[in-house]
Amino acid sequence: MRNWSGSDLKQRLTLRVAAVSMLCFAAISGYFLIEADRSVRARIAAVADVAARTLELRQSKIQWLNNPRSDFPDLDSVAASVMAPGLCLAFRSNSGEISQRFCGGTQADTAAPPQAFATLYRRLFDPGRETVRPVIARGQAIGEAVVWVDPAVLTTEAWHDAGRLMAVLMIALPLLCALVYAALSRALRPTRLIRDGLERIAAGDLAARLPPFDLAELSAIGDVFNHLAERLATALSDRNALTQKLIVVQDEERRHLARELHDEFGQSLAAIRALAASARLTAVQDCPPLLAECDGIARTATDMMETLRGALFRLRPPDVDELGLAASLEGLIAGWNGRSRGQPRFEIAIAGSFERIPASVSANLYRIVQEALTNAAKHAGATRVMLRLEMRETAPAGGSNEIALAIDDDGGPGDPQFRSGMGLLGMRERVAALGGRLSFEAGQSNGSSLRVIVPVAANREAAFVERAA
Ligand SMILES: Nc1ncnc2c1ncn2[C@@H]1O[C@H](COP(=O)(O)OP(=O)(O)OP(=O)(O)O)[C@@H](O)[C@H]1O
Ligand SMILES: [Mg+2]
Repeated sequence: MRNWSGSDLKQRLTLRVAAVSMLCFAAISGYFLIEADRSVRARIAAVADVAARTLELRQSKIQWLNNPRSDFPDLDSVAASVMAPGLCLAFRSNSGEISQRFCGGTQADTAAPPQAFATLYRRLFDPGRETVRPVIARGQAIGEAVVWVDPAVLTTEAWHDAGRLMAVLMIALPLLCALVYAALSRALRPTRLIRDGLERIAAGDLAARLPPFDLAELSAIGDVFNHLAERLATALSDRNALTQKLIVVQDEERRHLARELHDEFGQSLAAIRALAASARLTAVQDCPPLLAECDGIARTATDMMETLRGALFRLRPPDVDELGLAASLEGLIAGWNGRSRGQPRFEIAIAGSFERIPASVSANLYRIVQEALTNAAKHAGATRVMLRLEMRETAPAGGSNEIALAIDDDGGPGDPQFRSGMGLLGMRERVAALGGRLSFEAGQSNGSSLRVIVPVAANREAAFVERAA
């Protein structure tokens, strides 16, 4: 199974959900803190209002009683009714001097908030800031009522409220992620099927199809996938059929060409050699100096006939169908060993019976081997070329077989500027036309290797029908 790069869709979506949830949670916490600060502000403002009104009343009472000695400011009464932990209440004269102040004690048992939270809260809300209300007497400001809350108390209160919320959120978040991941795994399970289907198509298994899915989007993808696979299978089988026809026409053309060459060219060469022989006889009697030329003509004609025989052999292989693939290949190997005089030595190993394979398979395999051996002789610089042909059963009940062809040579590193020519192209087309697979690795340190796998129907009837056609 290929290891695909990039993060997993489920993980990425879960992370996104987690990020959004964190943002939501942060927003909720923020909202809670702002609301808490707002209500504290409102409370302080109310106390400041009460204190200022009280002081104004007190001042007006003093002025009314015209009793300058009586106590002022006298915040006791206000302090008693509004005091809360950390709340401070004071009167500041116009000179800025605090003349009286009350502060509520702090609760000793409350845990201090984490430093980070305290710093952030102080920066965001400035919890210690004062709320001031002027104290007016006879239209004159005589001072101001100042109210504030100890910032530490406010920060602790805020942490106490927000902390609980955050604790809940911290528990809820992993749970939410787990639920989201599980839901996504379930919803995205079909994507694995889609991926497996794509891998099967990529591996050449065009029978792969996808079942209908619950999710409309995935079902739509499945439909398109099946439609494309169908089209691809049709296109490929059309192409294979066309290639096969092309190869049949090509082979037919080669056979015809071979016949023409043999009949026309071969005959002429034979005639030339005969003429040279008779000219030689004449020369022996009448003009010995011409002997050498006559021999030269005869030799050239012989060489040309040799070359022609080689060309005819390549154009019109022996009747593979008549001789059978195994015997034809053994003949081919013998032919190469004859021509190469053991440099390189060509060897063959055949496993299984090839009597009942369709003619098109044997003819194409023969051609593939022919080209591969020519390449090995031409390009490899090898000392040994090994041909292995094996018939393998692929279905336990013998329903179908496959032919495995392997050609290896111990040649040196091939042409660094390796480029495919007609030979390899022709081999690939023939294998494709037979619905098989071909791999070729040239120029490794230990020579080149060609691998061909061709499926064949195991049943005799199919072969017979093909032969009759
Ligand atoms: N057995 C081999 N060992 C080393 N190199 C090889 C072998 N077979 C093929 N090659 C390399 O692969 C290239 C392509 O081979 P291909 O048969 O397609 O073309 P070609 O043999 O050069 O020409 P042609 O079209 O006549 O066959 C060759 O040029 C050669 O470099
Ligand atoms: Mg070639």
